[in-house]
Amino acid sequence: MVARRIWNALLTGISMVQLGYAQIPASSPDAPHYETVSNVTSPLSIGYIIFPGFTPLDVFGPLELLFQLSGTIPLTLSTISFTTGPVGARSPRPFTQYPSPTPFDPIHVLNPQIIATHTFATAPPLDVIIVPGGTGDFVLDNANDTSIEHFLASRFEAAQYVLSVCVGATTLARAGLLSGRRATTNKRAWAWATHPRHGENITWVPNARWVEDGKVWTSSGVAAGIDMMWAFIGHLWGEEVANRTVNGVEYTPHADKRWDAFAVVHDVPGADRNKSLTDCVRPAGW
Ligand SMILES: *[C@@H]1O[C@H](CO)[C@@H](O)[C@H](O)[C@H]1NC(C)=O
Ligand SMILES: *[C@@H]1O[C@H](CO)[C@@H](O)[C@H](O)[C@H]1NC(C)=O
Ligand SMILES: *[C@@H]1O[C@H](CO)[C@@H](O)[C@H](O)[C@H]1NC(C)=O
Ligand SMILES: *[C@@H]1O[C@H](CO)[C@@H](O)[C@H](O)[C@H]1NC(C)=O
Ligand SMILES: *[C@@H]1O[C@H](CO)[C@@H](O)[C@H](O)[C@H]1NC(C)=O
Repeated sequence: MVARRIWNALLTGISMVQLGYAQIPASSPDAPHYETVSNVTSPLSIGYIIFPGFTPLDVFGPLELLFQLSGTIPLTLSTISFTTGPVGARSPRPFTQYPSPTPFDPIHVLNPQIIATHTFATAPPLDVIIVPGGTGDFVLDNANDTSIEHFLASRFEAAQYVLSVCVGATTLARAGLLSGRRATTNKRAWAWATHPRHGENITWVPNARWVEDGKVWTSSGVAAGIDMMWAFIGHLWGEEVANRTVNGVEYTPHADKRWDAFAVVHDVPGADRNKSLTDCVRPAGW
């Protein structure tokens, strides 16, 4: 534990130096007032998996909440990919299997980028691993590239939590992490994502915005990752902190994890059509 903390402190120092900031000593009057919660490793080491063709909001949605939270709670972030440096949201190659009927041009789509700080070989110890989805999943799947799955399988035991957003759940399935568990995934890509070839003995839950099963949390498509992260923050640091965070960024979470309007919208088998679609959301705590 002590070694882990020293290691994390070193990493925090290194990444801050890379960003061009001088690190503020904790005793300095300029140091932020950090809240500490005894049940959470501090600083919590978060690893975000990144790959060419990631979906921007799968990454930046949950990351916005973590970014805000890190102003008062010590967190470290590693962005982990095949190589360090810029990784784009545009798929590196055309691919098959994109869920119809939505037309999608993988060549001309915009290409916002994120900088990967580590590779699968150099990633530090991680408490929380987050796996987004994106069109790159189809490319990796077509190429039988299982680098991310190998990384997840090797880090699962040591991690406190593994979370997926959208079709990131298929990556968890292929890594064997969902076997014997309940999970959910993108409702538009439901038929592709829940195909048994990704993994057997998985209870896919259609009427879920997100699913918590022990240390594995999975969310529905794209924006649902923000709802899951709101609940995850509540799980680790309490509801008050979670609600303050989403109200701070003026986001209304879909708070009922046991129902997802998009199961109805995308006609997922087993979708609960009895609830009103008009009163899904309101500000947290209001
Ligand atoms: C991927 O694996 C499948 C099934 O084993 C095989 O048919 C296919 O040719 C492989 N694709 C590549 C690019 O290696
Ligand atoms: C499937 O998962 C359940 C837990 O949900 C477990 O009890 C059962 O042994 C698993 N079956 C196989 C074949 O792995
Ligand atoms: C951690 O502590 C917070 C604040 O006391 C509490 O609200 C939360 O439920 C705890 N989380 C876990 C996983 O025990
Ligand atoms: C929706 O309501 C009908 C009629 O009351 C009921 O038979 C059905 O089980 C309900 N569906 C779900 C998913 O709750
Ligand atoms: C946080 O928001 C949820 C969803 O609106 C609400 O159920 C809960 O009571 C709120 N908790 C606090 C402490 O404000």
